Amino acid sequence: MDKLVIHGPTKLNGEVIISGAKNAAVALLPATLLVDGICTINNLPNISDVKIYCDILEQLGAKITWVTKNEITIDTRNITCTEAPLEQTSKFRASYYLIGSLLGRCKHVQVGLPGGCNLGARPIDQHIKGFEALGATVDVSQGKITAYADELVGTSIYMDVVSVGATINVMLASVLAKGTTVIENPAKEPHIVDVANFLNTMGADIRGAGTDSIKINGVEKLHGNCTYSVVPDQIEAGTFMLAAVATQGDITLKNCVPEHLDCITAKIIEMGANVTIDRDSIRVCCNKRPEKANIKTLPYPGFPTDLQPQIGVCLSIANGTSIINESIWESRFQYTAELNKMGAKIIDQGKSAVFEGVDTLIGSPVYATDLRAGAALIIAGVTANGETSLYNIEHIDRGYENIEEKFRKLGANITRVHED
Ligand code: EPZ
Repeated sequence: MDKLVIHGPTKLNGEVIISGAKNAAVALLPATLLVDGICTINNLPNISDVKIYCDILEQLGAKITWVTKNEITIDTRNITCTEAPLEQTSKFRASYYLIGSLLGRCKHVQVGLPGGCNLGARPIDQHIKGFEALGATVDVSQGKITAYADELVGTSIYMDVVSVGATINVMLASVLAKGTTVIENPAKEPHIVDVANFLNTMGADIRGAGTDSIKINGVEKLHGNCTYSVVPDQIEAGTFMLAAVATQGDITLKNCVPEHLDCITAKIIEMGANVTIDRDSIRVCCNKRPEKANIKTLPYPGFPTDLQPQIGVCLSIANGTSIINESIWESRFQYTAELNKMGAKIIDQGKSAVFEGVDTLIGSPVYATDLRAGAALIIAGVTANGETSLYNIEHIDRGYENIEEKFRKLGANITRVHED
C-alpha cells in the first residue's frame, strides 16, 4: 500500500491547473450509454473512479479509445449487456448512474448496490421514487438493484431531499422517455449542469439545469459525433484555495470557474484571505493566521460538504473558536480524530464539531478516512511542523489526479512511498 510522507511547514506558492470534475466525469461516462454513436470526452480527470467506469462500460459492450490520459472516444452503438459487474459497481458511489442510463436506453438494468465514501447512511430512495414515477419496476435485494420497464413515460417528480445523484439519475432515465418530465426541488451543483449540457450536445432537450426546476422533453434518440469537455472541478479548486489559507501561502488556480466558488471565496475573505478573480483563474493569498469562522454545509450554492474537511484544517489553526454544522452527511467528522493526533483541539459532536484554534499542528502518522478527508490531511501535513505519514491514500487517488505532484509544484515537501 502507498503512503504520502510530508515534511512541513511550507507556505505554498505558485500556480496549479485544476482538472476536470470527478463528480461530473462519473456521470458523463454512464450518460454515454444513452448515445447511439461515437462521442469524444476531454478534460477527463485521470483518476481511479474514471478508470473503473471505463472498464465497466467496456464490459457492457462500449468501445473506448484513450486519445490522451485525459481524453477518450467512446462508441456505444453496440451495448450488449445490461448487467454491470457487481464486484466493480460496489467499489464506488457513482455506479448508480448505470441504472438511469441503461434503463433509459435498454429498459432493463442490474447493478450491485453502490459503494463510496463511508459518510454514514447513503440511501437511494429518491432515485427509486423517480424511476418508479417514470413507469419502471425496481427491485432491491441480495445486494443488487434490478430495474425494468415496458416503456418510460415523462411525469412530474418532486424530490423530497435535494439529491445530486437522484437528480442526475432521473435526468438520465427521462431523456429518451415518452413525453415531458419535470424535476422539482432538484440539486443545482455545477456537475448537474455539466451532465445536462453534455446530453443536450448529443441531442437531448433539457432546460433549467442549475435552477429550481428541470424540464426534460423526451426525444427518440441521441446522436454522437460530438466532443465534450468536462467542467473544471469545483471541489479540487476549493481544496487548493483552502490550502493557500491554511499554509498562509499564495496560490493561483488556473482553468477554474470562479462563479462556482463564490461561497468559498466569501468565507475565506471573512477569514482574512485576499482573493483576486479573473475570467478562469483565482488567486488566493493569506499572509497571516486565518481568523475563526462558522460553517454550515448546504446544497449548492451553499458551502459544499465536500470542502468541509479541508476548511476544518484551516479552522483547527485559526485565531479563535469555530463551529462547523454538517447538514448533508451523518458522519463526516471522522477526520477530526486524525487532526487531534496532530495536536488540534476539535470536539466531534456528530452533526457538528467545535474547533478551538491552536498555534500549530505537529506532524504525525494519520489515516485518510475518505476521499476529501485525505485531501484535508495533506493540507494538514504541509501546514504542520515535522513529518506526517498519510496512509490509506487510495481514497485520495479516487478523486484527485497527481495530487502529490500538484502540491510539490507549489513547494510542498511531499513524497509517495510504496510499502508492502
Ligand atoms: C454526491 O453524492 C457526491 N458524489 C458526493 O461527493 C457529495 O458529497 C454529495 O453529492 C453532496 O454534494 C458524487 O457525485 C459521485 P446526494 P450523492 O444524493 O449523490 C440524502 C465526494 O467526495 N439522500 O446529493 O450520493 C443523502 O443521505 C463525494 O466527491 C436521500 O435521503 O449525494 C444526503 O443526506 C462524497 N435519499 C443528501 O441526500 C436519496 O435517494 C445528499 O445526498 C439520495 C440522497
